[in-house]
Amino acid sequence: MSRFIVQRKSQYDDLYKESVENPEKFWSDFAEDSFKWHRKWDKTLSYDLRKPTIKWFEGAQLNITENCIDRHLETIGDQTAIIFEPNNPDEDSQHITYQDLATNVNKTANMLKALGAKKGDRICIYMPMTPELAYTVLACARIGAIHSVVFAGFSAKSLSDRIEDAQCSMLVTADGGFRGQKITPLKEIADQALEHCDCIKRVLVLRRTGLEISMKADRDFWWHEAFEKAHDECVAEIMDAEDMLFILYTSGSTGKPKGMVHTCAGYMVYTNYSFRNVFQYEQGDIYWCTADIGWITGHSYILYGPLSAGATTLMFEGVPSYPDMGRFWNIVEKHQVNIFYTAPTAIRALASCDLSFVNSYDLSSLKTLGTVGEPINLEAWQWYDEHIGKKECPILDTWWQTETGGIMISSIAGVTEDIPTFATLPLPGIQPCLMDDMGNEIQALESEGKLCIKYPWPSMARTIYGNHQRFKETYYTAFEGKYFTGDGAKRDRRGNYRITGRVDDIVIVSGHNLGTAEIENAINEHPQVAESAVVGYPHPIKGNAIYAYVTLRGEFDASNASSLKSEINRLVSSTIGPISKPEKIQITGGLPKTRSGKIMRRILRKIAENELDKLGDTSTLLNPECVQEIIEGRYNS
Ligand code: PRX
Repeated sequence: MSRFIVQRKSQYDDLYKESVENPEKFWSDFAEDSFKWHRKWDKTLSYDLRKPTIKWFEGAQLNITENCIDRHLETIGDQTAIIFEPNNPDEDSQHITYQDLATNVNKTANMLKALGAKKGDRICIYMPMTPELAYTVLACARIGAIHSVVFAGFSAKSLSDRIEDAQCSMLVTADGGFRGQKITPLKEIADQALEHCDCIKRVLVLRRTGLEISMKADRDFWWHEAFEKAHDECVAEIMDAEDMLFILYTSGSTGKPKGMVHTCAGYMVYTNYSFRNVFQYEQGDIYWCTADIGWITGHSYILYGPLSAGATTLMFEGVPSYPDMGRFWNIVEKHQVNIFYTAPTAIRALASCDLSFVNSYDLSSLKTLGTVGEPINLEAWQWYDEHIGKKECPILDTWWQTETGGIMISSIAGVTEDIPTFATLPLPGIQPCLMDDMGNEIQALESEGKLCIKYPWPSMARTIYGNHQRFKETYYTAFEGKYFTGDGAKRDRRGNYRITGRVDDIVIVSGHNLGTAEIENAINEHPQVAESAVVGYPHPIKGNAIYAYVTLRGEFDASNASSLKSEINRLVSSTIGPISKPEKIQITGGLPKTRSGKIMRRILRKIAENELDKLGDTSTLLNPECVQEIIEGRYNS
């Protein structure tokens, strides 16, 4: 066992100390031991966080897929790499061995090459959670193409924006995707998106649902036809450590999503390190992360982390509510899952159902539970502990972000203590700190402030694709020389962190990161809308929900309110995706503004949260009278 995989609390303390005292040696030693390199690095780290420039393992050469696949073939080639559980429980699951994975990824890689893909090209992937999605992601990495996975719940507009931003030359999609009882018409949505994109030259289409679709000659190709012709050996492209591995979009404070860039070596090193440490994966364990590969959690902890560790990772195509609310527990029993990693919003939704959905299944295979994506409230934590873990499983509350690439703050299963509602301690190698509003680091242990990371770690995002200036302004300007996470946090006297939530214009709804500006832009497209302001407010299942305040052009006939609200909802859905739909829409005569004309969202947030005693002084507003009107007209249903 590698000495970097923590077995005891005292070892955690020692490793942590070592990682702070000599970070370069720490990461260099871990990287040296744990991977297959074509060439070792000349320098472990060079950086300047004011610019920021960040380079890890400069001079090294590798291919991440050799580390995720090839190197396992001799030892565990017959072991299952991926268990695929389909949406429909009557369809057979698949057990894909590491050997099968090698063959399928190589064939997919050759298929992409035959269609013209090459190193450095950006390839957009808009697919359901099928094994072919995993093959495509890994095939891109194998040939050195940069994947940009777009979650298959996004609209045509969101898809085309992302394709254009990264100037992707190829799109891999499917005829449709199964989600519970519904089919998402992915190819039809992609066709709409491509009406606005000139950069895409080839579209590869997986047949999954049998949905009838149109295929454009010379542009669109069927997966099964191309796959059949593809050879099953493909030599991995040799990549430099800092070559781009992928782009993944996340919401920003302005309307435009940010294409976060991750690079080959650092990302590989850190996802492997954090997966093995946090989950304490042991050979033979069945590990299941319920995320979608369209999000960073799926990239890091369904694919790259587990596969580079030689794990068996389960991929589920469907949703927790189909065919009924016992589906997750049915899958745990069916595949004897040992490690289960999900989102607090799913736990809250399942906790609100009858316990018979849980109790009709045998969950005794479970030994470790995890959560990610948003703060977990005490009730949800206790329900998870009692009814799923039967009070015998550690619960890992893992804090991290698309930008961090991997888990940063979390307990380590069975090694460090878990504390309900606390993410707890940073992993060795991660140096968080809390900052006050004056820009100073808070030294006292027991404190609250803005969460920053003050020293580089290998899987940190390197830039925003095509916009380094925005990268600098978003993450490295608020606190000079430090990475600012956008989150607030508390720290207890023993150094445990509790994440309190976003301190910017991002709202986390059902674990999804939504930018309020992007939703406002979509609402403002409605011809009757003059202006809008979007805020988050607490919601019992979703964690947060969206509250939109809308002012209209001209006269408003109140009897049209409900049809107008439906139109706004449809517009948001078609512009961004259904996940961004407001829960509440209030039509109001005016929005509170400062004298310089800026909308005071803080006041609107307090009204949405029903914290009327915390509105503060409204008398200095340009239009204080509208506050009372908004309070009286508050959405009460
Ligand atoms: O606010 C934090 C919240 O999710 C944000 C990152 O979202 P995203 O980039 O979509 O990545 C989600 C999956 C890694 C963070 O800024 N968040 C994530 N994990 C937690 C969390 N908030 C509290 N506790 C967590 N464990």
